[in-house]
Amino acid sequence: MNSEDVMDTIAKQEWLKAVGKKLQPTVIKAFEAGGETGQKIKNFLHGTWLGHPLHPIITDVPVGSWTAAVVLDAMELSGQKKYAAGADAAIAIGLAGAVGAAVSGITDWSGTTQKRSQIGLMHGILNVAATALYTTSYIMRKNKGPRKTAIGLALLGYGITSAAAYLGGHLVYVEQTGVDHTATAAKYPKEFVAVLPENELADNSMKRVQAGEIPVLLAKKNGEIFAIAHTCSHLGGPLSEGDLLDDNCVRCPWHGSVFSLEDGSVVDGPATAPQPKFEVRTNNGQIEVRLIKNDKP
Ligand code: FES
Repeated sequence: MNSEDVMDTIAKQEWLKAVGKKLQPTVIKAFEAGGETGQKIKNFLHGTWLGHPLHPIITDVPVGSWTAAVVLDAMELSGQKKYAAGADAAIAIGLAGAVGAAVSGITDWSGTTQKRSQIGLMHGILNVAATALYTTSYIMRKNKGPRKTAIGLALLGYGITSAAAYLGGHLVYVEQTGVDHTATAAKYPKEFVAVLPENELADNSMKRVQAGEIPVLLAKKNGEIFAIAHTCSHLGGPLSEGDLLDDNCVRCPWHGSVFSLEDGSVVDGPATAPQPKFEVRTNNGQIEVRLIKNDKP
């Protein structure tokens, strides 16, 4: 069974789908119940403020600490008892990091669907199991319980969290969760290209147009025309099918990320990467656009 078969098997698990169906709306409603503060907390946990998902940064804490604990436990078992306190401290630091990783992870997961959702849920369940084993190991260590059993539980937890990390890697590198979906091999226009006759864009409306290889969102708000990349940076949603908001913003129809039409910046997550922004002009009755930032191919 290769990696893809394993992922397909996880994605087909009906019980995972059932749990996800109950848990995702609960997470979403919990943030919504917090109103503006809930949205701010959600943005923080997604990493919108950072321009990068927060979750993979925090996961380095438990994975790194628990890796150190494996080494220190091994040294203790080889007879070097002085490393025992270091191993215990590494496990405690990992447990603190695991809380942050869980909270940011479940926030990101609440915006996933289908295969990503099932694999993400399994990733989370494995990490909860690993954290429970580490917690038990830590309590035993502090209560002077059987040391070898405590070390064994930690080792088992390390194996499980490694499997969870593998699923996390698959979510990013294969399922492209958390990557910038506006980063593409296609060429962004550096020179002005005509994309639409001016009279075909009504005021207070949006349209998807094509600028060479790149789909662009044109929006006209109170007579002013804006252009940003059409493909949502979060998971590739079609922005022209979303909502044009009053404050010169657009809301993605898939998971509700809000982007400024003025500069493409993320106003609300789950997106963390901004939308590429285009300069707009009208020329001979045609709307023309070109990329403003030079950070795209
Ligand atoms: S695709 Fe998820 S918010 Fe746009």
